[in-house]
This record gives sequence, C-alpha cells and structure tokens, in this order.
Amino acid sequence: MYTAYLKHLGQARLLRVIADRNSPQGRTIRRGEAQLLNFASNDYLGLAANAGVIEGARRAMAEFGLGAGASRLLGGGCTLHGELEQRVAAFKGTAAALVFNSGYTANLSAIPALATNEGAIFSDELNHASIVDGCRLSGAERFVYRHGDLSHLAGLLQASAREPKIVVTESVFSMDGDIADIRGIRELCEAHNALLYIDDAHATGVLARGKGSLTHFNIQPDDNIVQMGTFSKAFGSMGGFVAASETIIDYLVNCARGLIYSTALPGPIVAASLAAINYVDAHPEVVETLHENISNCKRLLLSRGINVPATPTAIIPIYVETVADALRVSEYLLARGIYAPAIRPPTVRQSRIRISLSALHSDEDIERLSASLAEAIGCL
Ligand SMILES: Cc1ncc(COP(=O)(O)O)c(C=O)c1O
Repeated sequence: MYTAYLKHLGQARLLRVIADRNSPQGRTIRRGEAQLLNFASNDYLGLAANAGVIEGARRAMAEFGLGAGASRLLGGGCTLHGELEQRVAAFKGTAAALVFNSGYTANLSAIPALATNEGAIFSDELNHASIVDGCRLSGAERFVYRHGDLSHLAGLLQASAREPKIVVTESVFSMDGDIADIRGIRELCEAHNALLYIDDAHATGVLARGKGSLTHFNIQPDDNIVQMGTFSKAFGSMGGFVAASETIIDYLVNCARGLIYSTALPGPIVAASLAAINYVDAHPEVVETLHENISNCKRLLLSRGINVPATPTAIIPIYVETVADALRVSEYLLARGIYAPAIRPPTVRQSRIRISLSALHSDEDIERLSASLAEAIGCL
C-alpha cells in the first residue's frame, strides 16, 4: 500500500523529498556543491545565524547544559524559560505568556484546551495545518468559514448555542501572504462573546515594527484575545508561545497537553529566542529593511507583469495553473542558483511559487529573482 501510494505521488508529481543544506540558514545556502540564493526561509530578519543570538545560546549552554530532562511541570524549565515568557508578554502587551516546544505544539495544545469538549471552534478555511490539527484534536464542534468571509463567520457564530466559542485565524496567511481582517473578526467576537485566537506566526517580527497584528490594527490586547506565535520564523530560533491573560495562561499550564506531557525546550534555544526578541526591539531598522525589500520586490515583479498581492508581508505567492508549471518555474530558478520552492497540493489548492523575503536580501538579489522569475514564467 505504501509503495503504491508513493508511486501514485510520483506519477502526479506530488512526491516530497527532503533536501538538507550544508551551510547555516541565510541569504544564501549551500546544498551539495550548489550555492543558492535563498527565497525559501521564514527567517525574515536573518536572525537564525545572527552572532548575538548564537552567543546567547552559547552562554546558556555553558550555564544550563543542553537537554531539559523533564517537562516544565517537573523541573525541566530553567530560569530562562520564565524570563522569555515575561519578555514575550511585554512584547505582545499581555499580562502573561507561555512557551511551547514549537508553534505546531502550541496550536495543537492550546486550541483543544481552550475550546473544551462543550465549545465550538470557528476556523478560517486557509488556516495552517497546525491549527487544523488542533481543531481535529478537540472535542468541540468545528465550523470552517470561507477564507476571510466575515458574513459567513457571522452566520455560523449566530447559529451556534455552544459555549465557549473560539474564532481561530492566522493574521498573515502562511501560503498567500494576505492579512486577515482582525478588526472585523474582533468585532464579531465581541458581538458573539467569542474568544479570538490569532496565529501571529508570520506577523510577529514583521508587522508593526515586529510587534505583530494587534499593533498593526491598533487593537489593545485584552482578556478575550489570545495571541499565538513562534520563535522559529522571524526570531530565527525554535519554539512557540501563547500570550494572553493570566487566567488563560494558568489554565493552559493545567490543560495544554503539549506543555504537560513533553520535555521542555533546551535552555540554549530559549536563550536564543530571548536574544532574538531583544534584538528586534533594539533594531527597528532591520524590520524597516525587510519592508523596503518587500516593496522593492513587489514593485519589480509588477513592473515585469507578474501579479502580486499588495500586502506588506514577507510572503509573496506567484500562482501558476498546474503542478507541472510550479515545478518548471522552480527548476528553472534552481538551475540559475535561486531557491524558490514550488508549493503544491495538498499544502495548497492552487500550485504556486512561494517567495519569502528577508532583511538580508540585497537590491541585486531581488533584481536577480524578479528577472529570472519573469523569464521562467515567460517560458511556460
Ligand atoms: C501559521 C503557522 N502557524 C504555526 C506554524 C508552526 O510553527 P513552528 O514551525 O514553530 O512549529 C507555522 C509554521 O509552519 C505556521 O506557518
């Protein structure tokens, strides 16, 4: 059965293979003998190989060693974990925060815990797989609303008598780079007494000087908003977080299974995240450089007749008609030393090239990408 399935994937050109690099993550990466200009990473601010971030991890390794040895509830955490949680809470403007082992674990743990078996979850149809999986693990009733369709969401909220209600959305959608109407969703949540759960994975470090979507929309955090995020993207490290009221964080400490039943993150990783968050606060110019790169790239692509969304996010989807087209464009770029991967079903419905930009990219890099992309698309 497994062999037949793999064969089917191969025939449909949907087989996935792992391609590891032999260099740090960065503006360029080395894969085998090839040096590639990298437009595939979510390391938006170039912090994965930042000297200060690495030094933070090195010092923590000397002080706390490597493995955490137990879950947070059984002495696996060190003082750095609490320090990072306070730092995240201050950064996100909440009373408290809780660190998880990854963004995936945060969604998988926090969503079912908050929804409870009696509640109802309302989830955007394009939400990330970790949200989908968190919803699937929940005993709550689940409703999926059409992407960004607030009247659909309003109708579903209106029709449900369940309590508690929780609306879950990404703020910046990871495969399309568009921004959810957090203000509109927030108003619906208020009207229907629903908790708003925002996955800020691709907004943190990017929107509003890195603060994320609530600051972008000028919304004050309050007890009915939960901000989830990750250290693995703009912060260049590893781990997830939930920032919320003290009651919600205390509840998650008692009910989030991914926190309770998994060994805590190693101290050096936590220290790297701390160094990264401090770096973002102290270096707003790096976030500005990212935004200059975003506008520059979008302007160049548009000038070459390539349609791109106008949103100020670091994810630029280039939609194509077929799986084969996406692979052809990606392979064309790869042959010219540019890594911009094809994203295919089942990750997305419509195949595309997903470009992600970093503050590390130069104007020449972006010009090279846009010229080569235009050539590749011209060849389809
Ligand atoms: C929107 C979104 N949420 C959550 C995650 C999971 O985060 P992590 O990679 O830290 O597990 C991702 C990462 O792919 C994501 O794009």
